[in-house]
Amino acid sequence: MRIGRICWKGAPVNREEISRIAHADHPIKAPLDDESVRQLLAKALPRGDERVLDLGCGGGEWLLRALDTGPQVHAEGVDVSPEALAQADEAATRRGLRERLVLHRQDAAQFAAPQPFDLVLSVGAAHAFGGLLPTLAAARKHLAPGGSVLVGDGFWERPPTAEAVEMLGDFGDLAAVVDSVVAEGWTPVNGHISTRRELDAYEWACWGGLAAWALDHRGDARSGEVLETADTRRTEWLHTYRDSFGFVSLVLRRTREDRA
Ligand SMILES: C[S@@+](CC[C@H](N)C(=O)[O-])C[C@H]1O[C@@H](n2cnc3c(N)ncnc32)[C@H](O)[C@@H]1O
Repeated sequence: MRIGRICWKGAPVNREEISRIAHADHPIKAPLDDESVRQLLAKALPRGDERVLDLGCGGGEWLLRALDTGPQVHAEGVDVSPEALAQADEAATRRGLRERLVLHRQDAAQFAAPQPFDLVLSVGAAHAFGGLLPTLAAARKHLAPGGSVLVGDGFWERPPTAEAVEMLGDFGDLAAVVDSVVAEGWTPVNGHISTRRELDAYEWACWGGLAAWALDHRGDARSGEVLETADTRRTEWLHTYRDSFGFVSLVLRRTREDRA
């Protein structure tokens, strides 16, 4: 789940490169399968002419799939990673969607736009804002009246160990997470709780994919370190958080449009 910083030959390894390899088979950088993403976007984009913003867009996969839902949809993505934005740029061009996509390289918490958005996405990027509720507060600043937020973040399926909390952050259980969101004036109108299959598939795609790259590139100077990273992350997943970590995606609307 986490992409850590690793070093070889005394120089920091480009963690974006590691992330790119690890997500090669899972362009959505969160534990949701294609059908779950499709269903959430279908609920969140009912009209087909929405303006969509993604705070922490990564390689832009959510936005590209949103743009695919209709030719009148327009999208903007914000991310701090130049590598991820370059990937989004390339993929949008390849898929014929580039003209309807604007990319911003900056801290999502500082992002300001002249016009509001009908849908604000932020999946797996709550750390950029300091947690789920600050993420929603940031998203709300960009939301057009009647708009929706699609947010995805962790929760504890079972009580975590202290090590798991240290590794992934402190969440509540599912009910506590949803209650906290409702208490901030949001109503969930749709959602998805990642299945065991989706959670495991994501971890295998990341750490299995990274290991496979290392084995396929034995001649590469980075191979040994990449394999070590894959081993470490797989071990952390299996030993530390697989039994406790869950992931929930929520489509939210303001309960009262006028509520501050
Ligand atoms: C786990 S990835 C999720 C990407 C995307 N939402 C997805 O689901 O495919 C988290 C992303 O948040 C970005 N990020 C981290 N801190 C950020 C910040 N302060 N502002 C904008 N993006 C940030 C990272 O660069 C990364 O692309």
